[in-house]
Amino acid sequence: IRIAILISGRGSNMRSLVTACTAADFPATVALVLSNREDAAGLTYAREAGVRAIAVPHKSCGKDRETHERAVNEALTASGIEFVCLAGYMRLLTPWFTNAWAGRMINIHPSLLPLFPGTHTHERALEAGVRIHGCTVHHVTAGMDEGPIIAQAAVPVFPSTDTPDVLAARVLAQEHVLYPAALRHILTGMTPECAGMAENSLIVV
Ligand code: GRF
Repeated sequence: IRIAILISGRGSNMRSLVTACTAADFPATVALVLSNREDAAGLTYAREAGVRAIAVPHKSCGKDRETHERAVNEALTASGIEFVCLAGYMRLLTPWFTNAWAGRMINIHPSLLPLFPGTHTHERALEAGVRIHGCTVHHVTAGMDEGPIIAQAAVPVFPSTDTPDVLAARVLAQEHVLYPAALRHILTGMTPECAGMAENSLIVV
């Protein structure tokens, strides 16, 4: 299955997916990495890894979201993309785009949804005083961070020593495990072997 990974920045989740896809038995090939920002560090990494990587800058498309999304969609179609993974793609999507890819587009979000949709999730988790935090892979629908949940990984919160950055790093390490596992699951229906408890985390796909 030919997948595209949409990014806006550093692209560490993209990297974990690219790495997973190099395994002979992984059911996907990364055919395209696409960023809405030309300066996304992830583009350089993808090119160095031999993956086709392009920018479709939203700035060149004026204020209309759908104009930009049509340009993105054309790039996806031109590359024969069958499935889309959002990985730190910082654009709100219109119903036009989410409908076009309904059932064929997933996202990773750094909280245990439905808690903390949107941004600054780690600060908000600390402020709320939760003792368990984590990340979620979910189907993308028109409502932001609202689509059906596919998989989650949970990590402990240590309120006396955690800062947002420390907590973010703990969650990110699990994102890199969870996203490839959830993608494999959604593409094959297989329960991934990594489901279960690991040190400092609980992963359920
Ligand atoms: C991750 O925390 C992801 O969950 C969120 O944005 C961040 C992107 O990081 N959607 P990276 O670009 O994958 O390193």
